[in-house]
Amino acid sequence: MKKSEYVWLNEELVLLDQAAVSVNDRGFLYGDGFFETLRAEDGRILFMPEHLARLKASAQAFRIPFPKKFSWEKRLHQVLAANGLERGLARVKILLTRGEASGLGLPQETWPTLVIWAQPYSPPAPEEYARGWPLATFPERRTTFLGRHKSLNYLFYLAARQYALDQGAKEALILEADGLVSEGAATSLIYARDGNFHTPLAASALPGVTIGALGRGLARQGLSLTTVPTTPAQLSLASGIWLTNSLMGVMPVSSLDGMPVLISPQTGLLQECLNLEAQA
Ligand SMILES: Cc1ncc(COP(=O)(O)O)c(C=O)c1O
Repeated sequence: MKKSEYVWLNEELVLLDQAAVSVNDRGFLYGDGFFETLRAEDGRILFMPEHLARLKASAQAFRIPFPKKFSWEKRLHQVLAANGLERGLARVKILLTRGEASGLGLPQETWPTLVIWAQPYSPPAPEEYARGWPLATFPERRTTFLGRHKSLNYLFYLAARQYALDQGAKEALILEADGLVSEGAATSLIYARDGNFHTPLAASALPGVTIGALGRGLARQGLSLTTVPTTPAQLSLASGIWLTNSLMGVMPVSSLDGMPVLISPQTGLLQECLNLEAQA
């Protein structure tokens, strides 16, 4: 028999198949909300304050009331425990929408909808990390300031990822409106050039929790991660390219639009820096 799954919905833990949100919820109607995806290892939730800070900043920027006096840590652990995920890897997802409110604009007098899920997470196999992921440049440029927020308007990224899959790649390279390199469809980007690590300076990229942690981790090792404007041509000259996100950690890139990219031996160093930061 399938084990019952639970989610946190607003004020209580409910069975997943009994968790209901109104069709008038603005998250459903307009994508009017934000989400976070966190990694948990044996019940330990990584970078929780950083994820909550990003969610709160986005909620405030778009006038969605951020839950006050909510015991985030307790609730996230409660959802993990209810789903038997205190051991192993888990994906924890937090979703906050404006809830129900009429009118266009950003009406403030609302009860936001809060959902917390936890599911088992299977990372890519070690061979996949060793082989790396092919990257394909999505031809449509991202022109929205929403890119700086992990908003529920994810359709652009879903289309970009599908484009990459259709090309036989695993991730899409997203370009800024001006054609500069931005990030991946669900990943931040880091690359090596002249013996240094860089990440693209991109006005509408998501401030990734993982790339932030990597910057701090590299600094601890006396190394630097500099943020620089990057053209696609400059990226293609990199001596290593990596994709990062909270679930997957650090994934090397094996090719860019069909051109092979060196699998740099520095992947281990980057992952180690991230692990140390996660334990700090
Ligand atoms: C568009 C985009 N960029 C970057 C990232 C990486 O962010 P983080 O390291 O906070 O998981 C994500 C995560 O899903 C994303 O959706």
